[in-house]
Amino acid sequence: MTRIRKAIFPVAGLGTRFLPATKAMPKEMLPVVDRPLIQHVVDEARQAGIEHLVFVTGRNKSVIEDHFDRQFELEVTLVERGKKAELTLLSEDLPEPGTVAFTRQQSPLGLGHAVWCAREIVGHEPFALLLPDVLVQHPRGCLAQMMDAAADLDPKANIIAVEEVPMERVHMYGVVGVGAPRGKAFAITGMVEKPKRAEAPSNLTITGRYILQPEIFAILESQAAGAGGEIQLTDAMVALARTQPFYGLKFEGRSYDCGSKIGFLSANVAYGLERPDIAPELRQEIRRLLGEK
Ligand code: G1P
Repeated sequence: MTRIRKAIFPVAGLGTRFLPATKAMPKEMLPVVDRPLIQHVVDEARQAGIEHLVFVTGRNKSVIEDHFDRQFELEVTLVERGKKAELTLLSEDLPEPGTVAFTRQQSPLGLGHAVWCAREIVGHEPFALLLPDVLVQHPRGCLAQMMDAAADLDPKANIIAVEEVPMERVHMYGVVGVGAPRGKAFAITGMVEKPKRAEAPSNLTITGRYILQPEIFAILESQAAGAGGEIQLTDAMVALARTQPFYGLKFEGRSYDCGSKIGFLSANVAYGLERPDIAPELRQEIRRLLGEK
């Protein structure tokens, strides 16, 4: 498969489920331990070899742009105070100049529309798409696992990360139909966005990580609104699947839906428990809160 250089991050969502926290602050900037959600997802993309970050933003999202830029006053203060570790941390996270692009989704018309808004920046090459609501905890990262799987597939392959959920939850996601295995992946036989339980082709849902071919943009251009009255990426993928192969990958690792309060809180605990500097005390504190010794 052609090397994937660019990744799209749709960050225009309103974050209404986290009000009032998200009244003045984008939900993508909520911290999971000490890194904003969006930084965790960017980390995953960089780990998979992504070189160019494309953010589809909206109004009130300018702090995301600031987050991926230098902060001179802060740097000067840290230098004056001799805070070397903090300075290193900031410089490690800073993208190379010219490798970050921002474009605005002017109206909240759906995920498909957000992806389409990035068409001029991505151009005619396959790209990754990472939804910042979803965190996947795994040493290799989810997108890197998809890149590994892609290496064995046709150059025009589209790949989607999928995971099993209980049948009573399938109506909240995009759901795929399962065909023949192909290397680490399997052929996708159909896709439905937010199906009723009886209409779901399986209990394998789309996790929010995609490798897509650029032909999706021409389809999105005229894609009609679907589930929830929004322009759905899943509907455009169904159309693209008529001419290009689609594969699903059951990735390793645990996903957290940080668009929900429980998912977000669980991610904070899980990521905290992975950090050697925090884990022992956090473990003790959790035991105490649960009334255990
Ligand atoms: C989007 C996608 C859906 C996918 C989900 C994963 O839905 O449309 O196919 O399963 O993300 O989180 P949303 O959560 O934006 O409604």
